Amino acid sequence: MARRRQLYEGKAKILFEGPEPGTLVQYFKDDATAFNAQKRGTITGKGVLNNRISEYLMQRLGEIGIPTHFIRRLNMREQLVREVEIIPLEVVVRNVAAGSLATRLGIQEGTRLPRSIIEYYYKNDALQDPMVSEEHITAFGWASTHDLDDIVQLTLRVNDFLSGLFLGVGITLVDFKLEFGRLWENDEMRIVLADEISPDNCRLWDAKTGEKMDKDRFRRDLGKVEEGYQEVARRLGILPEAGIRDLKGPEVMQ
Ligand code: TMP
Repeated sequence: MARRRQLYEGKAKILFEGPEPGTLVQYFKDDATAFNAQKRGTITGKGVLNNRISEYLMQRLGEIGIPTHFIRRLNMREQLVREVEIIPLEVVVRNVAAGSLATRLGIQEGTRLPRSIIEYYYKNDALQDPMVSEEHITAFGWASTHDLDDIVQLTLRVNDFLSGLFLGVGITLVDFKLEFGRLWENDEMRIVLADEISPDNCRLWDAKTGEKMDKDRFRRDLGKVEEGYQEVARRLGILPEAGIRDLKGPEVMQ
């Protein structure tokens, strides 16, 4: 796979041209940024773990009928995905108050929300990803009302499924961010889940102790950042202890 054409380099991933038309190779870096890249660092092994965690979650979601861009993992740091036209939105779902919601609305972090809340942010680094409403999204043509209906339906299904999956291994899914893309097959367009789902874009707390196992350990200088990501993989039963063949199933927590 040497000398493939690089199409895009983001903060945590690089996209290369794939082996067949309509495919891309998604490479996971160890680089981490926070607060719109004002804070930068490296989390050793993060790329390997996020590649594996995102593969696992996308596969499980695929099994319940959620369309995703994921095709297959290629190696420790790369996965093959379908090329989609990314909708320029960060779709955030919150189950428990944390992060910017807790700050913005003055709600104590850890407060269970009366229901799951979806928020949209316009993907634009120069503008620092501002929060936007459905009105902005449809007025500026980033997505149609019909696209948004699909996005909300998919997002709520993903939230229900992943909340249960994580709770089964003793983790509370506090909030997370999804990205969607448009995929054309013949003349039909489908909205599919894209990007990645990993501790970089989820808040994952131990269900009993509340201990953080996600990128907040990096954002807030809590230490043991690598260990947090590893613990998520371990609980999901996908942490290769003695190489990639040593993969167990999920460990059910009592
Ligand atoms: P927030 O509380 O900072 O708004 O973050 C909400 C969720 O979205 C959290 O799980 C982290 C994730 N997120 C990203 O994946 N990328 C981002 O750029 C931001 C700001 C948040």
